[in-house]
Amino acid sequence: MSTATDATEAALTVQHRLPGFVPRMGIILGSGLGPLADKIEDAHAIAYDDLPGFPSIGVSGHAGKLILGLLGGVPVACLAGRAHAYEGRIDAMKVPVRTVKLIGAEAIYLTCAAGSMRETVGPGSLMTITDHLNLMGGNPLAGPNDPDFGPRFPPMEGAYDPELVAAQRQAAASLGISLADGVYAAWLGPAFETPAEVRMIKALGADAVGMSTVPECIVARHCGLRVTATAVITNLGVGLSDGPVNHDQTLAAAAEASERLQGLVTEVVRAFG
Ligand code: HPA
Repeated sequence: MSTATDATEAALTVQHRLPGFVPRMGIILGSGLGPLADKIEDAHAIAYDDLPGFPSIGVSGHAGKLILGLLGGVPVACLAGRAHAYEGRIDAMKVPVRTVKLIGAEAIYLTCAAGSMRETVGPGSLMTITDHLNLMGGNPLAGPNDPDFGPRFPPMEGAYDPELVAAQRQAAASLGISLADGVYAAWLGPAFETPAEVRMIKALGADAVGMSTVPECIVARHCGLRVTATAVITNLGVGLSDGPVNHDQTLAAAAEASERLQGLVTEVVRAFG
């Protein structure tokens, strides 16, 4: 089935299960950030398996449920579990993002783990993403365009909504959390970067590198969703510190920062609602 048909069917399934529910914001939870889903009140979960075109989720730290409910009193549609481009499809999250749009959300909040290019922004830091570099070598919109969702050549200027970046800064200040900002580079993976690649990514102007977020941002902007994103820094980029980088470290650092991220996301959603 086409992604348009899948997204329409998935939206109908959601509306059938929860008549009248209209989220203000979608949220995508990154590696190890699952606990945010437990903060959603009056939660109604739908397994990705029950939604056409939604990916099956493999990597540990991800679940695979669309959770509808209230966060900070505001209706949200939380995608708990993401598929990554390195699993084989750069457009794996296209249907979930478009479904969030079709059920009425105005914006989507992307969260992810990332490696830092800056020694001063170390593991456990939160970084609001202000722009990105797509280094994945592909684009989720390649192929026939579906004009029902958006234009053939969507602009990407201001992709990370400046008002929502400001909302993140304000929320962080009111919670007493420090929040870095920077450019996120998307790396296909699944192999981590070499030290030479990290030096290249840094030289290109990135502040952080990760294996997600950018395809979702592109799909979301194409269909007119406003986008905001926060990365949890789980490690310094390969070669910038002594130790090796591995997925367990990503999950552990994300878990440690999870409380602060939950607070930040909740406050931004509350302010947006
Ligand atoms: N590189 C790529 N992806 C990541 C990293 C990294 O250093 N840390 C967490 N996700």
